[in-house]
Amino acid sequence: MAEIGKDINRAKQLLTEGKLVAIPTETVYGLAANALNEKAVLEIFKAKNRPHFDPLIVHVATLSQAEALASPFPAKAKALAQKFWPGPLTLLVPKKEIVPDLVTSGLNTVGLRCPDHTLTLQLLQSLSFPLAAPSANPFGYVSPTTPQHVNEQLGDKVAYILDGGECRVGIESTIVGFESEQPTVYRLGGLAVETIEPITGLLQVQLHSSSNPQAPGQLQSHYAPGKKIILGTQAQLQAQLKAGAGTIMFQNALPGIPANQQIILSANGNLEEAAQHLFAALRTLDKTTVEVILAELVPETGLGRAINDRLRRAAAR
Ligand code: TXA
Ligand code: MG
Repeated sequence: MAEIGKDINRAKQLLTEGKLVAIPTETVYGLAANALNEKAVLEIFKAKNRPHFDPLIVHVATLSQAEALASPFPAKAKALAQKFWPGPLTLLVPKKEIVPDLVTSGLNTVGLRCPDHTLTLQLLQSLSFPLAAPSANPFGYVSPTTPQHVNEQLGDKVAYILDGGECRVGIESTIVGFESEQPTVYRLGGLAVETIEPITGLLQVQLHSSSNPQAPGQLQSHYAPGKKIILGTQAQLQAQLKAGAGTIMFQNALPGIPANQQIILSANGNLEEAAQHLFAALRTLDKTTVEVILAELVPETGLGRAINDRLRRAAAR
């Protein structure tokens, strides 16, 4: 098991030595290494068992640090960074040579993001290099939202887990790229499309591409726990009721299922709260003896779109 603590200097020292440190962000925990040190980055892929065709997001402390890694930095990307950083938004921008090809899987763009978490911002400000960090889970599994989640799955592979408590947003960042100046959403996430559109105008959302995924976060089966998941409205799930089922419900319990096999994401129907609790709920039920998870789809608006996206991917296997 890894050492867990709030010691930024310890995290800094290990990262400077080229070691892996799990870092808290407002979205999910990241598995971080010096983004400019290829050997250190290689360790991320190994620890996660992640294929090399799946590029990493690079985390920065400021917009000017981001601008040092990208050229040209599109005006529209800059406007979004100014508005939403620090925050759950990753921008795909043309990379400078200083960013190793390993980080971007050979693509000529790099995903950049400034995370909104005090500890990690302090850490990033203290470092002389940016941090490459995918979510701190084995490839294909649900992302971690607590230090304990990281420890359970990657505890023997990270030098240190920087403890920033439970993640506030709970689902990964929204990814926006700029193909011929046109902003496009490649992954729904913690920043709602409706929140971005006042800055960009109407956004294209392009989530599925099959053979050579632009973002393998787009792979159909991803973010998946081990158990079978059935999705539906409350009425549809009611019709699927069976012994040995557990539930993840948005607001109201499903009649006929024991209370200890049910997880309510937000008793007052708040999509932000539901997003924050979603991944922990999947993990919790995955660890129980329930045979199947009945999960309720949430309203397809705001963060609800990202929640439903993760539920669909978790169910696709
Ligand atoms: O909220 C988040 O984004 C978290 C925290 C730790 O920052 N990170 C995260 O990283 O979710 P990861 O690696 O689990 O997901 C990043 C996604 C991947 O699907 C990857 O393919 C895509 O971003 N991506 C990264 N760089 C890319 C690029 N240059 N072009 C296209 N997709 C990219
Ligand atoms: Mg991930």
